[in-house]
Amino acid sequence: MRVLSIVGTRPEAIKMAPLVQALQREPGVTGMLCTSGQHRQMLDQVMSLFALQADYDLDIMAPNQTLNGLFGRLVARFDQVLGGVKPDQVLVHGDTTTAAAAAIAAFHRGIPVAHVEAGLRTGDLASPFPEEMNRRVVDAVSSMLFAPTPAARDNLCKENLAGSIFVTGNTVIDALAMTCQRLDGDGSLSAAIAARHAWLDPRRRLLLVTGHRRESFGEGFEQICEALAMLARRADVQIVYPVHMNPRVRETVLRKLAGIDNVHLIDPLEYLDFVWMMRKACLILTDSGGVQEEAPHLGKPVLVMRETTERPEAVAAGTVRLVGTDSGRIVAEVHRLLDDAALYAQCRRRVNPYGDGQACQRIVAALCGRPIDDFQPAAATA
Ligand code: UD1
Ligand code: UDP
Repeated sequence: MRVLSIVGTRPEAIKMAPLVQALQREPGVTGMLCTSGQHRQMLDQVMSLFALQADYDLDIMAPNQTLNGLFGRLVARFDQVLGGVKPDQVLVHGDTTTAAAAAIAAFHRGIPVAHVEAGLRTGDLASPFPEEMNRRVVDAVSSMLFAPTPAARDNLCKENLAGSIFVTGNTVIDALAMTCQRLDGDGSLSAAIAARHAWLDPRRRLLLVTGHRRESFGEGFEQICEALAMLARRADVQIVYPVHMNPRVRETVLRKLAGIDNVHLIDPLEYLDFVWMMRKACLILTDSGGVQEEAPHLGKPVLVMRETTERPEAVAAGTVRLVGTDSGRIVAEVHRLLDDAALYAQCRRRVNPYGDGQACQRIVAALCGRPIDDFQPAAATA
């Protein structure tokens, strides 16, 4: 079986890396990898960390690319690759423009599509934008739907889709577990990362921030940055914000936050360093999908600076709180968590609603037609 995996952005590469590796080890499978290059630098960071090599790299990224420009160019380029490779199966991930364009290009050529991280829904096409549309389109044209959680499976069942559904856990937990093992098993690696971040102040609590969602551009991002500036007035905290490379994000963040002493605006971190930083953090503020899944596994409380989430499991477990983008609300929630030890302890329980590190094994088995045991989320631990 010739399987063509497709990635284009940082999170897709992180979440597909252990699966691409597992496919390469599987007898009877020829695994190939096509990168769209929707992200360039942030994708390359992940490719080199996981020692992935693209068989095809469309190198599509343009500065400040538009959704339609990107989508149109991608469909045409994927069509050429699919015509040459003629894979038996195309594997796409999540809800990016890369995933949607690849799925449609494969569908038009009659090539079966399998969707990793299927079934996530907010029910609101405007949030996240355009990801909610992308994931629905990919699910609609897929013949295999790898739902990370039982709730994602239930979403798919309600839509009465054509594809077969498997509950696999999220591959991000496989990637995170591999990365934590690497950090724990190599003292000199952890020491080198610590040395790279020797500017961190061990006396101040670390608030780690990421943010990049399109629907927050404008007023939402202004508010998020104002909240961070207000929080920086606390002498007991330091804020570390690896700023996404999207120029729209960088413009606002640098304009509002550059020059504040205990706010460290840094370039996107390599995944190893970012995991190391998450483990050091007292609290994580984010609008990222992947970080919402990783932090509960590490026992880190998360405030999600969005109005909606397609990942309700950790919210239900109490480790993730949805706080929106209103600056007053963000500031109040951070103060509450930092000043109420009982509340903080409750939010830092380790929960694993998203995966058990076996997602890739299940997906490979399902692709090869072997039976799988569905992923069952475990109870929270202290
Ligand atoms: C994309 C995905 C989003 C995902 C996010 C992860 C879509 C529509 N959006 O959003 O779902 O959550 O990636 O980060 O698919 N840039 C660089 N270098 C990079 C990456 C980006 O310079 O390595 C700049 C470029 O100017 C690029 C811009 O960022 O045009 C926007 O990138 P794009 O992939 O279109 O959107 P993201 O906001 O990154
Ligand atoms: N991440 C990273 N370096 C950073 C910030 C995030 O490696 O500086 C990782 C993070 O651990 C997660 C993924 O990137 O696995 C999330 O990517 P992003 O927030 O860009 O996209 P989303 O998950 O929102 O689609």
